[in-house]
Amino acid sequence: NSHLLVAIDGPAGAGKSTVAKRVARRLEIPYVDTGSMYRTIAWLALKEGLTADQEAEISELALSTPMTLVEGGVKVHDVVLKDELRTSEISNFASTIAAMPRVREALVRKQQEIAQLQSVVMDGRDIGTHVLPQAHVKVFLTASIEERARRRFGELQGKNQSPDYEKLLQEIKQRDENDRNRTFSPLRQAKDAILIDSTDQTIEEMVEMILELCCTKM
Ligand code: C5P
Repeated sequence: NSHLLVAIDGPAGAGKSTVAKRVARRLEIPYVDTGSMYRTIAWLALKEGLTADQEAEISELALSTPMTLVEGGVKVHDVVLKDELRTSEISNFASTIAAMPRVREALVRKQQEIAQLQSVVMDGRDIGTHVLPQAHVKVFLTASIEERARRRFGELQGKNQSPDYEKLLQEIKQRDENDRNRTFSPLRQAKDAILIDSTDQTIEEMVEMILELCCTKM
């Protein structure tokens, strides 16, 4: 395969999407936000009044809903979902439904299809381990939990919300625990992934480091 696949995984709030977007822009290839796909299914499920015990119905949604990733959001049934995917309620429910094997299977298939056709920078939890094990460059991006909560706090403030820091910290802890401890494709660093701790590095430093890794593969 001649096209370049870059996988960026890590826990919530480590800065994956910011870094992945910039790397993609510099390489002039698409950025694929897989978290937004789980968020979309969570949003649709909540809209239909489904609850966490309705695994069959939620899996059916994941299998049957055509979605297209667009700039900053997801297009589904002719509407573009953006900010509505970024609430705490959706973050938490996305993590719940992401533990469902058939939901993952359906979304992983879509992700693999996207990467079959073109070079991509894809971010998520299981890209290097499961979705694209053949990726040329694998990064595991992490940061201290306090730093991650601080960043989420700033992001939400920027969106004119008034977040509660302690509550955010607890939510991130809970989501990490869900994501790390699920049976099916848990969050973990691939053996061949480079570990980058974003606590003490600027975004630009991380972007440059990843671009250098990409250069050695092209
Ligand atoms: O990355 P983001 O925070 O938007 O992802 C929301 C949730 O979707 C995560 O907490 C995780 O449970 C799930 N997810 C996943 N696998 C991915 C991407 C996201 O399980 N590849």
